[in-house]
Order: sequence, then C-alpha cells, then structure tokens
Amino acid sequence: MSDLQFDRHRRLRMTSSLRDLVRETAVKKDDLIYPVFAVEGTDTKHEVPSMPGVYQYSLDLLKKEIDDVVEHGVKAIMLFGVPGTKDELGSNAYNENGIVQRAIRELKGEHPELTIIADTCLCQYTDHGHCGVIEDGNILNDRSLSLLVKTAVSQVEAGADVIAPSNMMDGFVAAIRAGLDEANFHHTPIMSYAVKYASAYYGPFRDAAHSSPSFGDRRTYQMDPANRNEAIREAVSDDREGADFLIVKPALSYLDIVSDVKSTVNRPIVAYNVSGEYSMIKAAAAQGWLDEKETVIEKLTSMKRAGADLIVTYFAKDMARWINESD
Ligand code: PBG
Ligand code: ZN
Repeated sequence: MSDLQFDRHRRLRMTSSLRDLVRETAVKKDDLIYPVFAVEGTDTKHEVPSMPGVYQYSLDLLKKEIDDVVEHGVKAIMLFGVPGTKDELGSNAYNENGIVQRAIRELKGEHPELTIIADTCLCQYTDHGHCGVIEDGNILNDRSLSLLVKTAVSQVEAGADVIAPSNMMDGFVAAIRAGLDEANFHHTPIMSYAVKYASAYYGPFRDAAHSSPSFGDRRTYQMDPANRNEAIREAVSDDREGADFLIVKPALSYLDIVSDVKSTVNRPIVAYNVSGEYSMIKAAAAQGWLDEKETVIEKLTSMKRAGADLIVTYFAKDMARWINESD
C-alpha cells in the first residue's frame, strides 16, 4: 500500500467547518426573485391546484403576502396578472387600470425598496391565449411588438422597476428599449427571456395564469428543447439589442444552456426555475419520497453552480427562510 500514488480528496471533507471553508457556491437571499399572481376581486386567496403553496391573490391579500415576502428578506418579485376579461388583442395588458398596473402602484406605495419586475406578455390577456397578435391562425411578429411596447410603458408608468418581456417575438428587446427611451424611461432595465424553450414544464403555470393557448402550441416562437447552439444566437441578439439581464427558462433541464450563456454574454444571467420543476418536487415531497428542503437547496445551488447570477423560483420564500434559519 505505502508506494501507491493517489490524491486524498477526502481531506477537505472531514469536518463541517472545513467543508464550509471550501464550498464554492451558495445561494444568497439577494439571488432570489419570487413570482406572484394577482387576480381581480377582493378577499381572494386561491391555491393553484397543480402548485401547492402557490396562490392567486386579490390586491388586498397580495399586499399582506408581499409584507411577508419582504419580511423574509427577498428583494425582488416577478408579477403576473390574471385579468377579469380577455380579448383578441389582449387590451388589459396595456390598460392603465389593468390588474398588473394597479398591483404595481399599490405594492410600490407600500414597499418602495422592493424591486418589482413586471412580466410583459399578452398570453394571459388574449382570448386565444397566444403571446402575440393572431391573423389567420398565424402569430404575427412585428404587429405584436407594438402591443408589447405599450404594455411595457404602461407598467413602468405604474411604477415597475424592471420589464421582463417573455413572448419570444424577434426584436422585442430592441422595440421595448426604444419605446421606453422615447417615454423617457432610459433607466428602466430589461430582463429579457432571451432563451425560452417550448417546454412541458410550463403546464402548472398555465393553470395559475389561465394562459393556455386555445389552439396549436407555442413552437413557432419558443425554442426547440433539442437546440443548444441556437440558444447562443438568441442570447447574443438580446445582448446586442440592449437587454440588461438574460433569462434562461426552464432551468433544471437546461443547465448546459445557463453555463453556455453565462460564458458568452457578459450580463447578469437569470435561471427561471419554472412551475413544473416546482410541482415535481412538491409532489414527491408530499409522498414522502424526497426531502423537500434538501432537494430544493441542492437544485437551486446547481443553478448557481452552472452560472446563474439570479434565480426566479416559487421556492424563494422557503429558501429565504432556510437561509435565515441557518444564519
Ligand atoms: C408565457 C409564460 C410562460 C411562463 C411564464 N410566462 C410559459 C408559457 O406559458 O409558454 C412559464 C412560467 C412557469 O412555468 O413557471 N409568456
Ligand atoms: Zn406569453
């Protein structure tokens, strides 16, 4: 034995404090973005059946929920609206008294220091459930852009701190940047869903946001999960168009993409830990098959390890609580 040559990797694993000293990655509260759903009405807190622990809130109860989120030390939320009525052109997306616009005004009034990221898309607001304007069954790219710009400007007028366009039309970053600049919102950042795959993991979200397409699917605008090089092309064009942050979505099955984008584009990279990724863990934990806390910490850590600077996750409040408990 004594003349065997090998490395002793276990030396640095022998005590908890040594392991702490050599740990390369940690999730911080500052990394977390919490998605929330605002609905019309009052006194409503409706659990999304496919997402236990995630609720649609009317504005009165949303305020209380956000007090709690802020109390936990989460510094940013991503706001989705579920409007009372929908139409062909998604007009409630850019209505100054739309659900998101009112939610932003109220929440900003209570928590000026909270970063409110507004999801900018049309699918919750259109009667056909697609993310753009439809003509003869086709999604029209350039005509969708002007509605997105209107939506973004109305959200910033209401007080949104960051605009997060998610509809995957080509040129949305250039169009929104120009629209915001023209409205004198030069300092409002764009967090672009630069790399967004047509994923089965969005299923539970569509229950939460009532945003399933009524015909067809989103494959003419969201990316094919088989493609890796194409992600770089998407990321590079959003970078060139002036996106301030780039989102990769979903996160778990796409950590190779997070890593690629991080090493190609010099901007903060955001991993979106989507609804289906949340629900899978919840379902397994409810069965007693997985330890929820351990699993979530491992998953979120893997996103940081892959190169994500920030993580959008329905576990943000839980994660913040676990970090607080460990301090
Ligand atoms: C669409 C949108 C989607 C999500 C947020 N906005 C995807 C989709 O329905 O195609 C998914 C978020 C999640 O699953 O958590 N603009
Ligand atoms: Zn959409």
